Amino acid sequence: LITMHPQLEELIDVCLNHDISHIILAGGLPGAPAIKRAKDGGAKVVCFAPTLALAKRLTRQGADALVIEGAEAGGHIGPVATSILAQEILPHIEDVPVFIAGGIGRGDAVLAYLEMGASGCQLGTLFVCATESIAHENFKKAFIRASARDAVPSVQLDPQFPVIPVRALQNDATREFQQTQRGVIDAFDRGEVDQTEAQLKIENYWAGALRRAVVDGDVETGSLMAGQSVGMVKEEKPVAEIISGLIREAVDALTAREQASG
Ligand SMILES: Cc1cc2nc3c(=O)[nH]c(=O)nc-3n(C[C@H](O)[C@H](O)[C@H](O)COP(=O)(O)O)c2cc1C
Repeated sequence: LITMHPQLEELIDVCLNHDISHIILAGGLPGAPAIKRAKDGGAKVVCFAPTLALAKRLTRQGADALVIEGAEAGGHIGPVATSILAQEILPHIEDVPVFIAGGIGRGDAVLAYLEMGASGCQLGTLFVCATESIAHENFKKAFIRASARDAVPSVQLDPQFPVIPVRALQNDATREFQQTQRGVIDAFDRGEVDQTEAQLKIENYWAGALRRAVVDGDVETGSLMAGQSVGMVKEEKPVAEIISGLIREAVDALTAREQASG
């Protein structure tokens, strides 16, 4: 569930009424009441932790597991790299499982995080082109063509008008977003719109944009959310093949190490 949704409590209740066993609270920091509501209803709660202090607070508030997602990930991101967050947080959280997300494209990378103490890894970008994924073929083609440097975060032009960064493939929409921000900020400076209205205009720019790209296949005006691991996505293939490839890479890394140590 998206934590900043205005009807979060009702959404939690919908999950509980359907006996959902695990609720993931993403897209912002959940308050203690949301965690309590989900847990009182019998669900396990998974939260995103952007810093060590917040990871500790979330576990005190009852989170049953944490996800650490670094800036390499596709979609909404924080400012800090996965490798840094993993080093800062993993050694200090022992009470609950911690999952690592962002920029993972190979099994040997999964293995490295498991060895650092992670309970698992969460991958998004690598599965976008799975045969089973309902993403439009234009969306999948854009992923297969792209390299790591094409997946860039959206840029905020003015600190008065905050933009939560989204990592996506560059297209007409990402370029136009700069101009839209510029136009709205100029209108605000001329006194034609107030701060709230200006902020809303900036936020509304991306409304429906992911759906436009993923479902309708509009890869020019839609949002092509993608992580930096997009360069490792080379073809469409079944989920089972993607997972067996990850396992093979992890096992190969272990075997090579055993051979090297005699
Ligand atoms: C196309 C796309 C859409 C995503 N949408 C959401 C979302 O709606 N909510 C969310 O919490 N995370 C979303 N994510 C992030 C994934 O859940 C996952 O944490 C992330 O993809 C992991 O990093 P990676 O992309 O480097 O593998 C999205 C990622 C992608 C690539």
